[in-house]
Amino acid sequence: MFLTFEGIDGSGKSTQARLLAETLRAEGRDVVLTREPGGSPGAEEIRKLLVSGDPDRWSPETEILLFTAARRDHLEKTILPALAAGRIVVSDRFADSTRVYQGAALADLRGLVDRLHAEVIGREPDLTFVIDMPPDKALARGLARRSGEDRFEDMGGAFQERLRAGFRALAAEAPGRVRLIDGDRAADAVAEDIRAALAAVLA
Ligand code: ADP
Ligand code: TYD
Repeated sequence: MFLTFEGIDGSGKSTQARLLAETLRAEGRDVVLTREPGGSPGAEEIRKLLVSGDPDRWSPETEILLFTAARRDHLEKTILPALAAGRIVVSDRFADSTRVYQGAALADLRGLVDRLHAEVIGREPDLTFVIDMPPDKALARGLARRSGEDRFEDMGGAFQERLRAGFRALAAEAPGRVRLIDGDRAADAVAEDIRAALAAVLA
C-alpha cells in the first residue's frame, strides 16, 4: 500500500507521516517512511537545488522538471522496490504537491504537470491525506523552525492561501483517493482521524 501526506508548509505532514508509520509498525507492519523532494540519494541531491536559495531561482517550468526528475528517481529506487517487497510506503508529499504548487499556485501549468506525470511517473498513491489548516497558523509553526529550507515558505501568505485552496480542490476532484483532514488540532487528535480513515479503507 502506498500512502501520502500533502498540505501547505507547516501543516503537520511530517509529524503525521511519522506517527502513522509508528502506529503501523507497532501493529507489526513493515513500513518505509520517505519524503519528497528526496527519498533516494539522487533525489536528495536534487532537493538541495529546490528548497534553498532565492525564491526566483527557477522558472515554474524548470521547477516542474526538477521535481519530476527527483520523483522518478524516488519511485525507481525507493517506492517501487518497497511496494514490490510487500512493504507499506508512507511518503511525506508526492505528485499532488507538484499539481498544486507548480500546477496551480505558482503558475497555471497543470496541463504540463499532468502530461509529465502520465509519461514518466504514472503511479498514484492508494490513499492521500491532505492536512488542511489556516496558513497563518501553519506558517507560524513552520517558520519557527527556520531550517534553511525555507524557499517556498518565503513566498508569502497569499501564496499559502492559494496552496490551501489548491489542495482542497484536489480533494474535491478525487474524493476516493484524497481525504481532507482538519490539521488545526492537537497532533494526536489529527492522527486518530487519519488512522480511522485508513482503517475504513482497509476494511
Ligand atoms: P510539515 O511537514 O507539514 O511542514 P511538521 O510536521 O514539520 O509540518 O510540523 C511543523 C511544526 O509544527 C513542527 O515544529 C511540529 O512539531 C509542529 N506541529 C506539528 N503538528 C502540530 C500540531 N497538531 N499542533 C501544533 N504543532 C504541531
Ligand atoms: P517539504 O520538505 O515537504 O517542506 P515542508 O516540510 O515545509 O512542508 O517540501 C519542500 C518544499 O517543496 C515545500 O515548500 C513544497 C515544495 N514542493 C513543491 O513545490 N513541489 C513538489 O512537487 C514538492 C514535492 C514539493
